Amino acid sequence: MDNMLLVKKIAELKKKKNAIILAHFYQTSDIQDMADFVGDSLALAQQAEKTDADIIVFAGVHFMAETAKALNPNSKVLLPDLEAGCSLAESAPADKFKDFLDEHPGHKVISYINCTAALKTMTDIVCTSSNAVQIVESYDKEQKIIFGPDKNLGDYINKITGRNMVLWNGTCEVHDILEAEKIVEMKIQNPEAKLVAHPECAPAVLELADYVGSTSGILNFTANSDNQNFIVATESGILHQMQKQSPNKKFIIVPSDETCSCNDCPYMKLITMQKIYDCLLNETNEITLTEDVISKSLIPINRMLEISRKHKII
Ligand code: 13P
Ligand code: SF4
Repeated sequence: MDNMLLVKKIAELKKKKNAIILAHFYQTSDIQDMADFVGDSLALAQQAEKTDADIIVFAGVHFMAETAKALNPNSKVLLPDLEAGCSLAESAPADKFKDFLDEHPGHKVISYINCTAALKTMTDIVCTSSNAVQIVESYDKEQKIIFGPDKNLGDYINKITGRNMVLWNGTCEVHDILEAEKIVEMKIQNPEAKLVAHPECAPAVLELADYVGSTSGILNFTANSDNQNFIVATESGILHQMQKQSPNKKFIIVPSDETCSCNDCPYMKLITMQKIYDCLLNETNEITLTEDVISKSLIPINRMLEISRKHKII
């Protein structure tokens, strides 16, 4: 089926089944344009919490769909490809993380939302890259904290807040491979360009950046800046909204290697229009969580949403 027909059929199914499509900024542009809502991890969780749809089709990755399920257990949450995981979530198996916590008694546990629901059940509070500073600062300076699974984000937040959180050694395979040397070359070739970077990038990359933030933070920065040219150190999908919001500005993605001028998350890009249609039609690929996991993971997720509301972070 061609894409135009798929979009039409998905719209018909959505109406018939009272379904919505939530999509992350790293989805392909056709999916972003068809979705009911496109956003970063925090905004997607906020949307999942407030929707009264009977079905949520999550155009994103597994941990995002799990979070949506915990926040809205009465909705059926469908992930169009169940293989759409995340290297960060996979870097922190629940049993190993539990051992890590046991080695550090007396610590509060902050987990980046990019982790499994099982890991969230062992957590005091969840954060995203939009609210990590405010979440960390909700604890006294003296409080000992474990942060996982992303060591790059944890290291960046340590520097910003002057904390010394103990970091789990996980990385995002898409951001961590971006090279500072390559970016220096790009800056020399584009001296007027500002560098924007996601905090999952390595410290050497973040030190070069003019702005570091979540996907929505980066997007807002490029839209509101007077600058015309940007070097973008994150996943290529974000370029779609950047170009839509600022059609006259120039965006150059930091490539993941010499063979392409792109940087794609292999998990995010497993989602296709055809798979969205198929799972909505057949109501397959449902995300299920036990009641125990839902109730335990909701505690740290809700604390995060509460602090985000307090600071008006959306
Ligand atoms: P954001 O919360 O910034 O959208 O990040 C999600 C993600 O997976 C980044 O790799
Ligand atoms: Fe996970 Fe990285 Fe892909 Fe985000 S970009 S979903 S952190 S692997």
